[in-house]
Amino acid sequence: MNFYIKTFGCQMNERDSEKVIGILTQNGWRMTSDIKEADLIIVNSCAVREKAENKIYSEIGRLKFKNRNATVVAMGCVAQINYEKLSRVAHIVIGTNTIDEFYNIAKNPQKGVFIKERMDNPDYIFPHTKSVSAFVDIMYGCNNFCTYCIVPFTRGREISRKKEAIIDEIKKLIDNGTREVMLLGQNVNSYGKGLNYSFVDLLYEVNKLEGLKRIRFTTSHPKDFSKELIEAMRDLDKVCEHIHLPIQSGSNKILKLMRRGYTKEEYLEKVMMFKEMIPQGSITTDIIVGFPQETEEDFLQTVEVVKTVEYDTSFSFKYSKRPLTKAKDMEGQIDEETKLNRLNHLQQLQAQITQKKLKDYVGRIVEVLVEGKAKKEGMLAGRNRQNIVVNFDFRDNIKAGDCLRVKITKALKHSLIGEITEGVGND
Ligand code: SAH
Ligand code: SF4
Ligand code: F3S
Repeated sequence: MNFYIKTFGCQMNERDSEKVIGILTQNGWRMTSDIKEADLIIVNSCAVREKAENKIYSEIGRLKFKNRNATVVAMGCVAQINYEKLSRVAHIVIGTNTIDEFYNIAKNPQKGVFIKERMDNPDYIFPHTKSVSAFVDIMYGCNNFCTYCIVPFTRGREISRKKEAIIDEIKKLIDNGTREVMLLGQNVNSYGKGLNYSFVDLLYEVNKLEGLKRIRFTTSHPKDFSKELIEAMRDLDKVCEHIHLPIQSGSNKILKLMRRGYTKEEYLEKVMMFKEMIPQGSITTDIIVGFPQETEEDFLQTVEVVKTVEYDTSFSFKYSKRPLTKAKDMEGQIDEETKLNRLNHLQQLQAQITQKKLKDYVGRIVEVLVEGKAKKEGMLAGRNRQNIVVNFDFRDNIKAGDCLRVKITKALKHSLIGEITEGVGND
């Protein structure tokens, strides 16, 4: 029996799809990229913006048109909140807290809708697919209720997984060849609520694991981002020097309307502390343009912050009205054209900054963890500690999982080119 899976959305969804792939293959299923030979078609959905949500309906229609005989499964964030609507187009609907239902589906793909508010056992260790770099959930859900965001509704209340479960999971990964873990949560800085240890404590524990080379984490919420965490990043050799710290807006008025829980000044203070303590560190962010009541003046304050921080990369989005959220009913909604102009403005600015940042690497020697073949023929690919893709010439004796010193020779639009060096690094 064959299954086909398509994943939309963030790393949480990628991880969930991996769980499904693991469960099905362990039970004798084979993954296929040929939709026509699939017995089971799975679509893992994202609800964060309206466009993403609409995609699941068009995608299911498209896939059903290509293969009318397969059983169709809709899962993920749209499934969690819109299960009724989806049950009209999919045979099986599975919410974000019901992934374990795939153990039954693997044996008998019966029609049904499986939705729960909470996960039965958040500490359960789901399978992984073999890779050098692996995602590990450290917490599920979100309690922040930013006024624009649907995630607290699609992923439920925040709950931290126990340290022991996380460590066990990572140990198993290391035994299977993983060298880098990405610890996942909507707000990793609030990890440990209800337990008697913090995110920093967890980092110290994970850092001890032999065989592991790198630790990354995402997402850091600025309101809970602390000096202790920066110190841990500085002091723990495996923790990579990169933070994803979404600012969303540079205007205090908008931040308040968004219910983000910090001011621009508090945010910048934390960024400056990070830059001072970890000078080689990289910072990336998320920004929303055209939030209700955002004036040109508010928007220009966001532009100012982008210029001040000089993000290595930023992901910017046009505000999208989401059901269940507070912001959808706010006065002063912004028209599409203004949103688009602001988005273009920011993205052009960011492209220049990214280019400047990438060029700064030329001539430097960086540590690269090899992930495998590059898209370009005859080259290998990996990432440096700052999470930037580095491509370099293929060599027979190098394999995925190796950590190399690479001298950067060229900056492309989003990545770097380098050559392997035996010299001592300065990164
Ligand atoms: N937990 C993370 C974000 C998860 S959602 C955090 O707090 O930073 C990923 C990004 O999608 C957000 O950072 C935000 O920039 C964007 N986003 C969320 N809801 C949105 C909406 N209604 N319209 C546009 N962008 C949105
Ligand atoms: Fe959404 Fe805010 Fe939670 Fe992030 S912290 S997932 S933006 S509600
Ligand atoms: Fe992620 Fe989209 Fe859900 S961003 S948490 S898959 S709504």
